[in-house]
Amino acid sequence: MLKDLFMGLSKNQFLNTAAKKYGLKLGAQNVVAGTNIAETIQSIKELNSHGIACTVDNLGEFVYKEEEATEAKEQILEVIEAIHENGVDAHISLKPTQLGLDIDYTFCLDNLREIVDRASRYDIHVNIDMEDYGHLQPSFDILDDLSREYDNVGTVIQAYFYNAQENLEKYKNYRLRIVKGAYKEPKEYAFQEKKEIDSNFIKLIEWHLLNGKFTSIATHDHHVINHVKKFVKAHNIPNNKFEFQMLYGFRRDMQLELAKEGYNFCTYVPFGKDWYGYFMRRLAERPQNLNLVVKQVFNK
Ligand code: FDA
Repeated sequence: MLKDLFMGLSKNQFLNTAAKKYGLKLGAQNVVAGTNIAETIQSIKELNSHGIACTVDNLGEFVYKEEEATEAKEQILEVIEAIHENGVDAHISLKPTQLGLDIDYTFCLDNLREIVDRASRYDIHVNIDMEDYGHLQPSFDILDDLSREYDNVGTVIQAYFYNAQENLEKYKNYRLRIVKGAYKEPKEYAFQEKKEIDSNFIKLIEWHLLNGKFTSIATHDHHVINHVKKFVKAHNIPNNKFEFQMLYGFRRDMQLELAKEGYNFCTYVPFGKDWYGYFMRRLAERPQNLNLVVKQVFNK
């Protein structure tokens, strides 16, 4: 029930707009690296000092105006320049809807092309994050279009979709992030039971580790992480073929530990004023994250 409540709240545009005005509140500062690029570069430097790479996400949702999509693109171009100028170990994660996918496909593609082109000059990878089912195919189409010109792009496979294995095989030669899936999807397209999602998640990870180019295993689930550790050992899969990823602010001790153990580790670093939807989805998938809010309220 709490999951549905937070998922519903994540789509509330009024609260989203209000949140942008008031800055990081309610404990969001624990899971969002900063509201501007300078703060974010500082957070990245800190993580890099522990041997942790980063993927940077300029937060943004509900973009239906061209000016807003263009503003988001400019911000991401600035991040790319800042990554290059500061020589930090980081790449880009972005969401097509923030760059105009709900406005016009070609407009969105042009925005992404500009970003991927700039990133390619500095050998910076760009990951196309995956959103809900309605945006799945157009996002793959964007990847197809961009990869005719560039090889610094990759995407995400969400294990809750029935067609995940099919897409995994189709895109096996890309750098792929595999996740369980964060949106509420209908049973026509997606597994609903945690057990089914978890088992498909493991199946996809194993398949891509054995057959794919490079696998980013993005999860906070220690059962999955421990399984992967055993699997790579048993199959002699070298460390340079995969990495673990977690979100900024979650299971920090485990992030440091995995990096210390010698695994490639990459932290997903969200930043910006548009933190509200992201934060609500994190509360939806793990209501225990509410303790971040409670701590904040009582520490005032
Ligand atoms: P899940 O939430 O299922 O938890 C499993 C178990 O792990 C829990 O029961 C608990 O034991 C333990 N656990 C989990 N979190 C914990 C915590 N904070 N502290 C202690 N124990 C904890 N989704 C999407 O649809 N598109 C995308 O592009 C992305 N991108 C992405 C990038 C990265 C880096 C990550 C980590 C995740 C995403 N996701 C995503 C989100 C993803 O789909 C998924 O919703 C979340 O990662 C939650 O699922 P988990 O696999 O983390 O474990």
